[in-house]
Amino acid sequence: MKDLEILKDVFQVGYVDWEVRNFHGYSTHKGSSYNAYIVKSGDKSILIDTVKRPYFKYFLKNIKTVCDPKNIDYFIVNHIEPDHSGSFPLILPYLPNAEIIASTKGVEILEQHYHEEVREEVFKKIRAVGEGDTLDVGCGKSFAFVPIPMIHWPDSMVSFMKDENGKNVLFSNDAFGQHFATSKYWDDENNLSEIMWEAEKYYANILLHLSKLIAKTLPVVGSLPIDIICPSHGVGWRSNIPKILDAYTKWSSGTMDEKSAIIVYDTMWESTEKIAKALYQEIFKRGIPVKRFRLTQSDYSDVITEAMKAKVILVGSPTLNMGLYPTVAEYLCYQKGLKPMDKVGLAFGSYGWSKGAIKAIIEELKATKIDVLDESIEIKFVPREEDLDFKSIVDKLVEKMG
Ligand code: FEO
Repeated sequence: MKDLEILKDVFQVGYVDWEVRNFHGYSTHKGSSYNAYIVKSGDKSILIDTVKRPYFKYFLKNIKTVCDPKNIDYFIVNHIEPDHSGSFPLILPYLPNAEIIASTKGVEILEQHYHEEVREEVFKKIRAVGEGDTLDVGCGKSFAFVPIPMIHWPDSMVSFMKDENGKNVLFSNDAFGQHFATSKYWDDENNLSEIMWEAEKYYANILLHLSKLIAKTLPVVGSLPIDIICPSHGVGWRSNIPKILDAYTKWSSGTMDEKSAIIVYDTMWESTEKIAKALYQEIFKRGIPVKRFRLTQSDYSDVITEAMKAKVILVGSPTLNMGLYPTVAEYLCYQKGLKPMDKVGLAFGSYGWSKGAIKAIIEELKATKIDVLDESIEIKFVPREEDLDFKSIVDKLVEKMG
């Protein structure tokens, strides 16, 4: 079937998910895809990854349009998270002649996931591969397996297909992916700024806290003679490979394009919002790029993407029940897990008869290893005009920005 053939002898047999709007807590406004691939090489067929389980029937149908599953010789499992391996137990009966290949850690985690559905002997027969292991599939094609631990789980690996007669393809699984549904598979068939934003959001929400490990792994992947990248989410890369590789280098190093600020807050009776708006004006008039997000109306997956790029994160909350406003608590918890690097922080907010929010914000920012300004802004009930002069505190923030 021609429309599944994205490249000569390479077929995308996965599922484009136009419905998903939440992916384990991460908002996916534009859907996603679970890309799986079949490579043909002479009389050999190789299946790479599966799809999220609810979409198994579409996956099987796609495979059957490309080849008889009984004739699949190899089944490569690059990553065990269920969005890619969920159909593993279901596809096995259709692949009686396939040798299964996974990373050493992958074999272990596959068993830990599917022990109730798959016979123990199957796990024992899986070929466990690691750095330096290859698979020659004839006709000039061979695969090299490269572990990419923590992009995105310990088991993750990429499969690099060297093709003497065609394009070298990196099947990168989660790496370089985007939660983005499209009927056009390639980067250059889509709006580049839109897919780069989705790639950035994907990095911020899934990989950011793993940046140190990613920075170590990237040079290994980047040194491969890659012509094409086929990830397991979103579009494939054929025209913008240096751009996405450079972006991963930048995101994993914590480097910023410019020194900018974000103001993240919520408000109960508009006092904290008055502070947020006054801070915004003070930063804006200095020509520093600044964005303001009221959490009730903002999506924390989008906000963390902005936080990854900003130098300064100002966090505001009214005191509610001697603690944080719930949306602020939720955001700070999410941010703490993702650990944005090399940031300066400021806490602000309002209170009534008892305090609590500022202390909690400072604790959360410090736990995130954000360099918090010693001073904070804490105003009782409703701020007066003269309370909203933040020149001096913003001077200190600017100084800390370096
Ligand atoms: Fe797309 Fe880590 O799974």
